[in-house]
Amino acid sequence: MARGRGSRAEQDSAVPAEAAAETVADPAGETAAPRGRFAARLDGVEKTYGKGAGAVHALRGITLAIPRGSFLAIMGPSGSGKSTFLHCAAGLDQPTAGSVLLGDTDLATLDEAQLTMLRRERIGFVFQAYNLLNALDVRDNITLPLRLAEQSPDGPWLDEIVRQVGLADRLGHRPSELSGGQQQRVAIARALATRPEVVFADEPTGALDTRTGRQVLELLRHVVDAMGQTVVMVTHDPVAASYAHSVIFLADGQVAGEMRDGTPERIAERMTHLGEW
Ligand SMILES: Nc1ncnc2c1ncn2[C@@H]1O[C@H](COP(=O)(O)OP(=O)(O)O)[C@@H](O)[C@H]1O
Ligand SMILES: [Mg+2]
Repeated sequence: MARGRGSRAEQDSAVPAEAAAETVADPAGETAAPRGRFAARLDGVEKTYGKGAGAVHALRGITLAIPRGSFLAIMGPSGSGKSTFLHCAAGLDQPTAGSVLLGDTDLATLDEAQLTMLRRERIGFVFQAYNLLNALDVRDNITLPLRLAEQSPDGPWLDEIVRQVGLADRLGHRPSELSGGQQQRVAIARALATRPEVVFADEPTGALDTRTGRQVLELLRHVVDAMGQTVVMVTHDPVAASYAHSVIFLADGQVAGEMRDGTPERIAERMTHLGEW
């Protein structure tokens, strides 16, 4: 399979050295690095649901820097905090402690209206269930985020996206007239429309058959390698995770390790050591 694995040998690592044996770079030591090297940073992020005896510590101090132009997979057993991580990192939920930065913006400094703007303009989302609007054709689904953000469409960029996702001859179709894989490609194009700083994908291949899922993963990898986008994907599938440059393993709300350029076999092997999944 042509995944271009290893093409990012100099890829930055996302986890501080003390958190993972395989880590080769320490974001905390990057003071001399050019500004803006990281698309997003989480520092000591904790999330506790509820209070007192019934409190659930979903995240217990996550420190992670996501290099621009990287494809990161988040894996972990059920209940390890993957969804909570994604929601906190994407500004959909507020951490109990710690900070989340998108570029130079500390999300804690934003009010709800500003957070909504940030999610519309600077973040792209891809969900398992596509979440397309069937009342709109493919073209209008893709450009919806631009209308919501009151941005004028960037014609050449949209043409490029449509070309990359292979939907040029489907722009006038309704989502219900497309296959699942095509619908997810529309969702990916939609996520890219505003040229977001990070695309967050939650089990993007969960509803697809194996072959179609692979095509969607290749597309995600492609938008990173060819278009310089940054993608963070939650998945429970080691094959899906192997398309990423780097896999972050979560266990019990903490980063339990990082693996770069992992094969499905090595990723699966690591998962078995994290407990049931
Ligand atoms: N809204 C919530 N209220 C209370 N507990 C929650 C809530 N959301 C998640 N949790 C708990 O937080 C922990 C992490 O959940 P989650 O982030 O969904 O894990 P994952 O996505 O890895 O399965 C689990 O113990 C879960 O039950
Ligand atoms: Mg989840």
